[in-house]
Amino acid sequence: MVDIAERFVNLPAGIKPFLAAPPADVIRWTVGEPAFDTPQPIVEAAIKSLNEGNTKYTRSEGSLELCECAADRLRERYDIPATTESVIITPGAKQALLYTFMVCCEPGDEVILLAPAWPSYDIQCRMLQVKPIHVPVNKENFHPDFDAIEAAITNKTKMLVINSPNNPTGAVYTPEEITQLLEIAKKHDLWLISDEIYARLNWSGWDHLSPASLEGGGERTIVITGWSKSFAMTGWRIGIVSGPEKVMQAMGKLQANACSHIPSFLMDAALAALTSEIDDAVEEFKQEYLKRRQILMDGIAAIDGLSMPEPEGAFYGFVDISKTRMDSTTFATKALSEARVQMIPGGLLDGGEGFVRISYACDEATLHEGLDRISNWLESI
Ligand SMILES: Cc1ncc(COP(=O)(O)O)c(C=O)c1O
Repeated sequence: MVDIAERFVNLPAGIKPFLAAPPADVIRWTVGEPAFDTPQPIVEAAIKSLNEGNTKYTRSEGSLELCECAADRLRERYDIPATTESVIITPGAKQALLYTFMVCCEPGDEVILLAPAWPSYDIQCRMLQVKPIHVPVNKENFHPDFDAIEAAITNKTKMLVINSPNNPTGAVYTPEEITQLLEIAKKHDLWLISDEIYARLNWSGWDHLSPASLEGGGERTIVITGWSKSFAMTGWRIGIVSGPEKVMQAMGKLQANACSHIPSFLMDAALAALTSEIDDAVEEFKQEYLKRRQILMDGIAAIDGLSMPEPEGAFYGFVDISKTRMDSTTFATKALSEARVQMIPGGLLDGGEGFVRISYACDEATLHEGLDRISNWLESI
């Protein structure tokens, strides 16, 4: 009987089993998505565009207007050397990541991931017969362990993937660390993927720094970001990638032949998000996240047996559950069935055992209720 390609047979499921929508009485701390609605002017821009008939094929990389505006943003905000011609608007950041692995890696190449890493990097690499190499970060603050990275590099290493602010740990790498990561990429002649999807959700005392903005960074860094997290637009599927010319040229061919482009009318909505009016909405979201982060930090500190390094960015807390003497899957499974709280077991991610991930993108009431339930449950056992 004809079969599917071997490399897809045993692909790991990642965190998907724990992301399933739970029964209504369960507190859902799993899904990495803002609890806010997409700001109304963005919705209206999509409807207007549809009504104006923007329903036909169009420029594959994204409309010139959108690419110009998005590139300006990347340059002005983060000093990323992006131009109208050097960016591509993709169906989500996720697809931009897949494109990058496809364009930059050969089967058999090794890609270094800083573990625990967002699981799609690992799975995408495996889909392409590229080997993910998980290098653990320092457990006390989830920042890179440079000696471990150097030790993991072989003559097959092609790429280093960094994600700051980080999912799942909430770490934000310091400017010195970003500089050092770029130095490693330069020294070993590696591509650097910088997944900056959470760049605006930075609560650390230092600014977000893109390695693409540093000397020698632009020629080897592929920056990936998108609309999902900052603008509460997860379901719209709009991402952006910016990188060196030869990468972007190959990626242009890839997108043109893989999906043509994102839906034409969504380009106008994406453009509408890049205005000062929406900037104000993003600032309001940020104030809300800060409050929720504080609720989570206070709540975890008050529960015996749990601890959490301060989340520096994104909207995740990575909670140390090792003192409960349960492994993370047992902890999350029991928390779901007994406390009715759904969390991601860190053990599903390479290098994440001993922790669970909590998304504090939910509303305040959900956070308080979940914390009460976990506290009562742990006291009872
Ligand atoms: C680190 C990271 N990168 C990329 C993505 C994908 O974003 P998008 O919704 O734009 O595909 C996510 C989504 O959870 C993420 O956490």
